[in-house]
Amino acid sequence: MDITLSVIKADVGGYVGHSSSHPDVIQKAKESLERAKEQGLLIDYYVTACGDDLQLIMTHQQGEDSEQIHKLAWDTFVGCTDVAKRLKLHGAGQDLLSDAFSGTIKGLGPGVAEMQFTERTAETIVIFMADKTASGAWNLPLYKIFADPFNTIGLVIASNMHSGFTFEVHDVLKSKKITFNAPEETYDLLIFLGSPSRYALKAVYHKESGEIAASSSTQRLALIAGRYVGKDDPVCIVRSQGKFPAVGEILEPFASPNIVKGWMRGSHHGPLIPVSFREARAIRFDGPPRAIAAGFQLANGKLIGAADLFDDPSFDLARQQALAMADFLRRMGPFEPHRLPLEEMEYTTMPEVSKKLASRFQNI
Ligand code: F6R
Ligand code: MG
Ligand code: MG
Repeated sequence: MDITLSVIKADVGGYVGHSSSHPDVIQKAKESLERAKEQGLLIDYYVTACGDDLQLIMTHQQGEDSEQIHKLAWDTFVGCTDVAKRLKLHGAGQDLLSDAFSGTIKGLGPGVAEMQFTERTAETIVIFMADKTASGAWNLPLYKIFADPFNTIGLVIASNMHSGFTFEVHDVLKSKKITFNAPEETYDLLIFLGSPSRYALKAVYHKESGEIAASSSTQRLALIAGRYVGKDDPVCIVRSQGKFPAVGEILEPFASPNIVKGWMRGSHHGPLIPVSFREARAIRFDGPPRAIAAGFQLANGKLIGAADLFDDPSFDLARQQALAMADFLRRMGPFEPHRLPLEEMEYTTMPEVSKKLASRFQNI
């Protein structure tokens, strides 16, 4: 059975501030997707939130980039924005950068990760969702999952994974894409993946079969809007088990937290903390950035789940380490490298301050 899994997300208003989502907004989204399910457009759906981002997880048979599915997501976000405005939530409609829908939701603000595949006898899926960080945040974990044998032992000892994976990397500034094979081209691949604000890992494919293994959202809000409106807060779908990494191999990179861009005013480096659904609220210094992992089995397109995969004491040490990293970074206050370098800051008073002080600068 051919299934398309679409994960489309947007920040349509925060409660309180930019920390979390209001239950009425989530309820409104559920009602909208329930109607679409009754009408037969969706096979199934799951609505959740990560911080102030509303996540629409949908299964259907319309294929990727379906106008009907994208319009459903857009109309749902518009309906939820009305609820957010009524409650005077903060930043109501923040990520909806257009007045109207036009054929695709891409380029209008929301983040999109989609994949179409033939559902296996047992189709295990992990969906990562993040808040207070930028597209490209999945580069490091996806590399570890699909190319690092110290993370994924299946690359070494499982014959159906031993030939490796193919990585599709997007240059988000120039709108170009390139693919690399791992393990053969890992050094070339890493030059690009190591600069996640410019090069985002869009998709991963099983090399031998060409089957889709992972798909992430790479939309950059600031590039679309031409100014700071909020963080991308990306999502990522990963297929698991069999010829794909096991659930435990997919979650393993989060046991040693890495540092990402985002956090307060989208202008700081901070640790990406793996948290349970309940803890997906960005509070301290509007963060630190966090990620949740929702696990599903698919049954003829029906979403069996979600299992809250980071709700596990084996990630407690990672959370403690991430908090220690957060503390070290916070000590630097407005100094780099806690604060992002000027050219990467999406939120800065520098042009205004420079203009005001221009006449006081003298040649050296
Ligand atoms: C970061 C984020 C917050 C806001 C900050 C100021 O992605 O959303 O850190 O940037 O709370 O928000 P405004 O300008 O809406 O008052
Ligand atoms: Mg927000
Ligand atoms: Mg957010």
